[in-house]
Amino acid sequence: APRYPRYTREEVGRHRSPQDRVWVTHGTEVFDVTDFVELHPGGADKILLAAGGALEPFWALYAVHSQPHVLELLREYKVGEL
Ligand code: HEM
Repeated sequence: APRYPRYTREEVGRHRSPQDRVWVTHGTEVFDVTDFVELHPGGADKILLAAGGALEPFWALYAVHSQPHVLELLREYKVGEL
């Protein structure tokens, strides 16, 4: 299994726009989803609400994400661990 770099939540929080890259966390994993923002079926505006922080509070409101294919997609963008 690949080993990923470790980041703090503060570091993740510095990545909140396409210019600064768009990072999110899910559990203890860190993802750079910049290249997915414009592909998001729910719109770029919605995904950017979670930029720099945790996905869970938003995904709790949108159950459409509770499907295996969504986590498989997210995994492709993994860049680190908290
Ligand atoms: C739909 C991925 C963040 C709101 C979807 C779908 C995917 C996806 C794959 C389509 C699912 C399906 O129909 O089977 C992601 C990923 C995210 C993310 C990878 C973060 C990295 C968010 C956030 C919000 C959100 C933060 C809300 C603030 C929605 C909504 C839909 C949706 C409303 C339904 C769109 C529709 O069918 O009209 N998302 N999402 N998503 N997402 Fe996200």
